[in-house]
Amino acid sequence: MSREQELFEGGVAVITGAGAGIGMGLARRCGEIGMTVIVTDIEEARARSVADAIMAAGGRSEAQRLDVADPAALDAFAADVFARHGEVRLLVNNAGIETLGLTWEIPAARWEQTLSVNINGIVHGVRAFVPHMLKAGKQAWIANLASVGAFGQMPTQTAYIMSKHAIQAFSECLYLEMEVAGAPIHVSSVIPGMLKTSIFDAAAGKGEPEGAARHRAKMAHMMANYGMDLDEGCHKIIAKIAAGEFWVDTQEQMTDDIVAGRVAFLQSRAAPAMGAETKALLED
Ligand SMILES: NC(=O)c1ccc[n+]([C@@H]2O[C@H](COP(=O)([O-])OP(=O)(O)OC[C@H]3O[C@@H](n4cnc5c(N)ncnc54)[C@H](O)[C@@H]3O)[C@@H](O)[C@H]2O)c1
Repeated sequence: MSREQELFEGGVAVITGAGAGIGMGLARRCGEIGMTVIVTDIEEARARSVADAIMAAGGRSEAQRLDVADPAALDAFAADVFARHGEVRLLVNNAGIETLGLTWEIPAARWEQTLSVNINGIVHGVRAFVPHMLKAGKQAWIANLASVGAFGQMPTQTAYIMSKHAIQAFSECLYLEMEVAGAPIHVSSVIPGMLKTSIFDAAAGKGEPEGAARHRAKMAHMMANYGMDLDEGCHKIIAKIAAGEFWVDTQEQMTDDIVAGRVAFLQSRAAPAMGAETKALLED
């Protein structure tokens, strides 16, 4: 029996943004190892189809519409889950969106939405669930989705990159807060390199400035051609979370390279500079 099955079988997993992409892959894996998976997404039909597939494969699952940008909805949802199940063993704050374009060309509403989903959605997910977890008094795991982008710079992906830097810092502090509180809650920062999902396609037509479409298409193409297989990446993520690792990455070499670049940048105190790859991505 795998370590993740030993620890998680019979427990409840709550995953946000699980109607597609990484959230869906994690939901499927949690179903396979015998968890009751609460699949949530802003798109209810997507959540339903993932939950149905888990049940068709012999697992246990529920679907729920949930917009992580709504803190009151997260509070009500957490209360309902604990009232019905009495525990949550694994909470994955996964929902996130991409936004491309020059800062001043992105409409205010899209800026607000990006920060609300990518930052506040995770902060309020933790704020809503942790009091119930503490009251239940059982060992639990919280995993927040950052990215290798949490250590890099990428002009015209500023909204996304800054949100991931913020979430990496949030998870680091949260980890220490669990120690301060003596809480039996493990915290992991999930740092996917590139897994095959539709995150770039999902950003199309959502207030995107005209000039950003080409960059987005190049990113989508790179993801489709060079990204890691979704299920392979999600197996790895669940295994590392169960192992109690704080750093949960999928492509270790990519993490090493980007972190090394970040360390060198900070140590040099040099001005930000674009490498050849970044320039090529932004060229017309
Ligand atoms: N795919 C990658 O390679 C990669 C790399 C690094 C980090 N990530 C992170 O992983 C997470 C998932 O990304 P993905 O690639 O699977 O994206 P995706 O676009 O494939 O899936 C995201 C899901 O979130 C849902 N969603 C969007 N807004 C929501 C909201 N307000 N409330 C609830 N659900 C909402 C969407 O409906 C969709 O089902 C994100 O946080 C992303 O930043 C992904």
